[in-house]
Amino acid sequence: MAERLGVAIIGTGTIANAHMRSLEHHAPACVVGVYDVLHDRAEAFAKKWNIEVVASDLDKILHRSDVDAVIVSTPPFAHMGPTIAALEAGKHVLCEKPFAFDPAEAVKMTEASERTGKHLAVASARQRCWAASRKAQELASSGELGDVYHVRSSAFRFRGRPGIDILRDTHWFIDHARAGGGALIDIGVYQIDALLWILGNPKVTSVLCSTRMGIGSPAPAPLVQDVEDHAVVMFTCEGGKSGILEITWSSNMSNVNQFLVFGTKAGLKFSPLTMTAPGPYNQLRPVEQKILDVTDEDTSGFGDVSQQFVDAILAGKVPHTPARHALEVTRVMEAAYQSAKTGHAVSLA
Ligand SMILES: NC(=O)c1ccc[n+]([C@@H]2O[C@H](COP(=O)([O-])OP(=O)(O)OC[C@H]3O[C@@H](n4cnc5c(N)ncnc54)[C@H](O)[C@@H]3O)[C@@H](O)[C@H]2O)c1
Repeated sequence: MAERLGVAIIGTGTIANAHMRSLEHHAPACVVGVYDVLHDRAEAFAKKWNIEVVASDLDKILHRSDVDAVIVSTPPFAHMGPTIAALEAGKHVLCEKPFAFDPAEAVKMTEASERTGKHLAVASARQRCWAASRKAQELASSGELGDVYHVRSSAFRFRGRPGIDILRDTHWFIDHARAGGGALIDIGVYQIDALLWILGNPKVTSVLCSTRMGIGSPAPAPLVQDVEDHAVVMFTCEGGKSGILEITWSSNMSNVNQFLVFGTKAGLKFSPLTMTAPGPYNQLRPVEQKILDVTDEDTSGFGDVSQQFVDAILAGKVPHTPARHALEVTRVMEAAYQSAKTGHAVSLA
């Protein structure tokens, strides 16, 4: 087994820097080259991070023998092309979120991974790398919570519209044609993945969604925002399980985020991870709450997903973030947008 994994990065913008911060001191990874459609950007990135190769086209970087794996960190409209090309060139891939615009694209990418036998990991499952999420999933899957029948995530930004309030130079985020949607496809995909994972990845049977745009002052001209700021999604699954997700880029709300897991024996809430269960029968203390000893230190880290990807590939294991699960997230996301458009629940049964 190789001791170091040769990595290439495709797309050298904001998140590529987070991948580099994570991999820079991670000895098993060696970032050997980069490619960006904007060559100057790739050159500046390579200089900043001391990376040897700046490829002049995608094919050249994908066919290097010292590249074993590729991180695709382009915007959503440019995920499918480089991902499939890299898999077909025999490289393992970590693709940024959102995996794909729609399930048809996600199927093509997943099938390319299965056809070539190369791993395709997807960053929509980033939250699976957090210590608290892993502990919660371990408790849920071990049966310690009983039957986990409902999960709920509320994640509200006050003013956090990328392209307007944050990341002000990155305008594709608010353009439907290039981003595929707003808050839901951008950050809701993390929550959908985490909720389904903690439920045990059951089959989703129906999705109901409502979206809203226009919270906060409009995008300054000539920018135009044609994607949602706010989304509420409820989904039902086989086995009578359900989930609710509230996600915003912009709201008049702050510091009220929640991640809740409901089991028949015990429940969990995050930050800090706390287990709630019936106490010994006693009217004064009918409820017992225990703060679990896990450190949440990496919950703001974008990069741990790349370390986990590198380590899994070198160890011959499946990364935490498999494409089949990202495909399900894409199906739920598309059904949610369809439901928001029609005002009716969408059946996926
Ligand atoms: N910015 C964040 O905080 C953040 C966080 C998590 C995930 N992501 C995801 O990472 C991806 C990239 O986001 P970003 O913020 O880094 O965007 P960005 O616009 O800062 O960078 C994207 C880079 O990709 C390049 N590019 C575009 N098309 C390309 C192509 N076909 N081939 C090669 N390079 C191409 C662009 O020139 C640009 O340099 C998105 O899918 C986004 O959702 C971003």
